[in-house]
Amino acid sequence: MSKTISGFSKLSKSNKIDWIVNTYFSNTEEAKRILKQYWNNNEKLQQLHDEFIENTVTNYYLPLGVAPNFLINDTLYTIPMAIEESSVVAAASKAANFWLDRGGFKTKVISTTKIGQVHFMYHGDFKKLQSFFNYVKPILIKDAKPITKNMEARGGGIIDIELRDKTEDINGYYQLHASFETLDAMGANFINSCLEQFAKTFKNEGLLFEGFSEEEKQIQIVMSILSNYVPDCLVRAEVSCKVEDLSDNDLISGEDFATKFVQAVNIAEIEPYRAVTHNKGIMNGIDAVILATGNDFRAVEAGVHAYASRHGKYSSLTHAKIVDGIFTFWTEIPLALGTVGGLTNLHPLVKLALELLHKPSAKELMQIVAVAGLAQNFAALRSLTTTGIQQGHMKMHLMNILNQFEANEKEKEILTEHFKTNTVTHSAVVEAIKELRVKN
Ligand code: MEV
Repeated sequence: MSKTISGFSKLSKSNKIDWIVNTYFSNTEEAKRILKQYWNNNEKLQQLHDEFIENTVTNYYLPLGVAPNFLINDTLYTIPMAIEESSVVAAASKAANFWLDRGGFKTKVISTTKIGQVHFMYHGDFKKLQSFFNYVKPILIKDAKPITKNMEARGGGIIDIELRDKTEDINGYYQLHASFETLDAMGANFINSCLEQFAKTFKNEGLLFEGFSEEEKQIQIVMSILSNYVPDCLVRAEVSCKVEDLSDNDLISGEDFATKFVQAVNIAEIEPYRAVTHNKGIMNGIDAVILATGNDFRAVEAGVHAYASRHGKYSSLTHAKIVDGIFTFWTEIPLALGTVGGLTNLHPLVKLALELLHKPSAKELMQIVAVAGLAQNFAALRSLTTTGIQQGHMKMHLMNILNQFEANEKEKEILTEHFKTNTVTHSAVVEAIKELRVKN
């Protein structure tokens, strides 16, 4: 039976586990064993993970795979991917190899501006608010200097602060809409610290501003927070080749493949039901690299999907065309990433993943991640418009089913061989395991 507990976070790790297993599990020893089998023997490493969050009871493993042979702007990369979905790394590797022979991926960072807002309420004359804003803007920037000076020394900092009138949507609602350049940092802490300082200065200076009536002086700060919508932190990734070079087997001509591929992209451009799945496939690649490199996949997901709806209807994040016999497939996608700060300096695997990527700047990582998304989408559409995806998916899924039935190495070998020429379905695999076990 569930019950509440107070002061849980203050319990030791082992007391936390005791409470969980005694409260929720009938087989307490088994539950404890499962939790503890993921503890790391290296105490320092375990402590590091314990301290990432509150109430850590164990570690949650995801496989970290790599997809080699990505040629991006004429440099070769092996891309690290942390993901549980069986076919993603295989699909990325296939797409990398396909484009390796056709000139590779070309990428370009279009912009790197990030946004944060102070949301506030003001009930009074807008002209007075505007003149107060003009007066206070340099003070906002000056008061934030202790926070911005290091970033400025490296070439970043506050780009601008605007006053935005949102009273058409909510009575009395305004914003300080600020833009930032955070260089190699994702910048969430930097931006939020700046915003909270702006809010303090804005409120305090408002109380002293002689142009305001007593009522107008009472500016009410609602909240100060960065935006994960980053339409001006944009990167482009592209592949292109002659249509005739697209075929790499006898099953389909380059022309037929290109035509079907462009049709599939066009459908995702106009049909939201398809666009969501299409973009989900792109995010398979993007999230896996974001996780491996210690970035915030929730922030990226939120920003990317908002961007996909920017014209008022959810649409594809990739585009394709055939012009004068040349097939071009590209994405322009907002990615606010960091390669310094946060987990990047802390998590040993994240550091390793970044070293594998030649220690990229945030701009370089934006390009690599965009390529991972484009490659993933290419692989998905290539399967969908030719063989269908189930053939490849079920081949990868075979190992999951075999593991579920605790197949030993010999059984795995025999059944992998068997399913090279037989269709993989869950029931076919179960049947084959049973038959094999009866025979032996
Ligand atoms: C599965 O994780 C992703 C796909 O559904 C993407 C797509 O349909 O384009 C294969």
